[in-house]
Amino acid sequence: MDHSISTLIDSEFKKDVYQGLTAHPKFLLSKYIYDSQGDRLFQEIMKLPEYYLTNAEFEIFQRSKREICALFEAEDGFDLIELGAGDGKKTKVLLQYLMDNGNNFSYKPIDISENAIQNLESSLKNELPKLDVSAEIGSYFEVLDRLQKSNQRKKVILFLGSNIGNLLHPKAIEFLKGIGGCMNKDDLLFVGFDQKKDPQTILDAYNDPAGVTAAFNKNLLSRINSELGGNFDLDHFKHWEVYDPESGTAKSYLVSTKQQQVIIDELELIVDFEAWESIHTEISQKYDDRTIEWLAEQSGLRIETSFEDSNKLYRNYAFRSTI
Ligand code: AVJ
Repeated sequence: MDHSISTLIDSEFKKDVYQGLTAHPKFLLSKYIYDSQGDRLFQEIMKLPEYYLTNAEFEIFQRSKREICALFEAEDGFDLIELGAGDGKKTKVLLQYLMDNGNNFSYKPIDISENAIQNLESSLKNELPKLDVSAEIGSYFEVLDRLQKSNQRKKVILFLGSNIGNLLHPKAIEFLKGIGGCMNKDDLLFVGFDQKKDPQTILDAYNDPAGVTAAFNKNLLSRINSELGGNFDLDHFKHWEVYDPESGTAKSYLVSTKQQQVIIDELELIVDFEAWESIHTEISQKYDDRTIEWLAEQSGLRIETSFEDSNKLYRNYAFRSTI
């Protein structure tokens, strides 16, 4: 089959699925969860009582918006660039405050999901019609290129929601370095980090009893079914979450509950699963202050200040570049 694979694999998605499901142990990349169904499920997750992250960051913005926005301000105004903007629910707290106080700024949300960007654009048109918005679709790393080109006035780069937690430390450092390399002296990077806490709280956040997170995780399989002609039976995979309190890494898996074969037509691929074989699908890294200091140092960033919520679950850090 090898001879035909290069002509079969004509998209990033196909290549990554092929690689992940022919590897041992198997894996799939979490960025592919976010099609319109995945976006909808993530919206549901953000409303779950167990998923504390969104509310914690929302609370930080509510209670510290004055200080946060004071960090952003600049004489000639600034460009606010958000990586992985999603539905912008938390950002809107800051946008509203900045608008109310007559700040001169533009807002550029960037997200991998076309669907999320469209929804965000239309909701902003309604809620903040005077806001200067120019949205873009792209993945984090693609975006770095474009950042380099926008170099006129002060840039404030937002990376919220603990989205950085999808990257293991070496990748996070590579990414932060890349951003730092696009930053001028006055530019600011503002990042949300979910904190280490009671391991049970973390497990509950990623394994809700209503099964929304399980459906979210399994959306990877649904997407392979619908886009690549796969025949995954979702009922024969089990969502499984683990958390290592030492490394702070939460990992999601889909575990095959029986021996089975899955066919993926468009890859001309048969995938064999042993009973209880796993597919690793996502990491959600948790942090402590020392780790963030270390990340900053490794990435050529300097911590300017940080903000936390009243329950000390979550922190936002403001960084400047040291290079
Ligand atoms: C959007 C990556 C921050 O890891 O907490 C939620 C995604 N996964 N529940 C996270 C997610 C399972 C979320 N991020």
